[in-house]
Amino acid sequence: METPDHEEIPPGEDALIARLVEQNLALLDASTRPVRRGQHPKHHGCVHAEFVVEPDLDAELRHGLFARPGSYPTVIRFSNGAAFDDRKGDAHGMALKLFDVPGEKLLGEGDTHDFVLIDHPVFFAADVAGYVALFEALLGAKQSVLPKLAFFLPRFLAEMGHVYLTHLHKHPHELSIMLAMIAKHPDSPLAIRYWSTTPYCLGPHAVKWAVQPHEALLKPFDTPNSADKLRLTLTRQLAAGEAAFDFMVQLRNDPASMPVEDPTREWDAQRSPWRKLATLRIPRQRPDTPELMSFCEQLSFNPWRCRPEHRPLGGVNRARKSIYQALSERRHELNAGTSAEPSLSEFKKLWAE
Ligand code: HEM
Repeated sequence: METPDHEEIPPGEDALIARLVEQNLALLDASTRPVRRGQHPKHHGCVHAEFVVEPDLDAELRHGLFARPGSYPTVIRFSNGAAFDDRKGDAHGMALKLFDVPGEKLLGEGDTHDFVLIDHPVFFAADVAGYVALFEALLGAKQSVLPKLAFFLPRFLAEMGHVYLTHLHKHPHELSIMLAMIAKHPDSPLAIRYWSTTPYCLGPHAVKWAVQPHEALLKPFDTPNSADKLRLTLTRQLAAGEAAFDFMVQLRNDPASMPVEDPTREWDAQRSPWRKLATLRIPRQRPDTPELMSFCEQLSFNPWRCRPEHRPLGGVNRARKSIYQALSERRHELNAGTSAEPSLSEFKKLWAE
């Protein structure tokens, strides 16, 4: 039975989420300092921007943050999904934290509001059960003797071979998404499109978010052959000029073909075209000073840090609430830091210097 909030919660999901929290905590690599995120550990710079809500939105889009025109100072953390060498294929993240957003939030108190996006329109797990099965195959691969027998292969490939044999060969749709996600080789974090993949609320509507770059603003550069090529390009492009993204929304207008509980399925843009809600303006700046890099390292993003009108929807999002929270708390504890939200004045001081 679908709830009025568009969701259909399968029995037993809470227990699976609790298991995932424990498994993710157990996998956190505490051997280095600072302890990094369990996923998306490497970031490319700490960018400041202005999130400017469109002045004349259609009435049906005017909810929550988008109820009236406004402008919010924003920090952006661009990241790799897993790789530490930017030349390797990977998924890429763009996490936004808006400051000075008034009103109640679904997580914590304060005036910040997060959006978490990646450079692929769909996610590789349909639901929590599917994610757990895949995650357990990955854990099994780490413990299995199979990768050790395949000593002639890089460890990653040997482990993925194990995951394929034990899980993914039975799930070709997930496999094809995963392969497409990790095959991306962008030249600049400012020149790619990012999607939420999972749905959220826009008032009464179920929607997905995306951002698309204003590529014409970007100064072209020869891509450096470096493990840090994304940070280097970001820094060069923002030294040379400004950048921008359109923040877009897609409304769910056909429940049969646009599931809330399955982010492996893309919603058809012909049936429901993407519509602009805001512009993310990125001024000329230097995003990679040691102080800014460390500031972004310490930040925590969570899709649930949002106004209730933008509540995350679907099983994958339900799982992320406690997983991201637990991982962030453990990481900050080990780093002897605070997981409290930063203040805008703290951040402004860093970019003013
Ligand atoms: C059940 C599914 C998922 C799990 C278990 C998961 C797990 C995680 C974890 C543990 C972190 C690090 C949190 C921290 O230490 O602060 C993370 C970060 C991140 N995840 Fe997920 N994730 C899931 C789904 C997704 C989806 C659907 C997206 C698509 C947008 C996504 C995009 C990201 C990004 C961009 C970051 C980095 C955020 C930052 O810059 O701090 N994740 N995820």
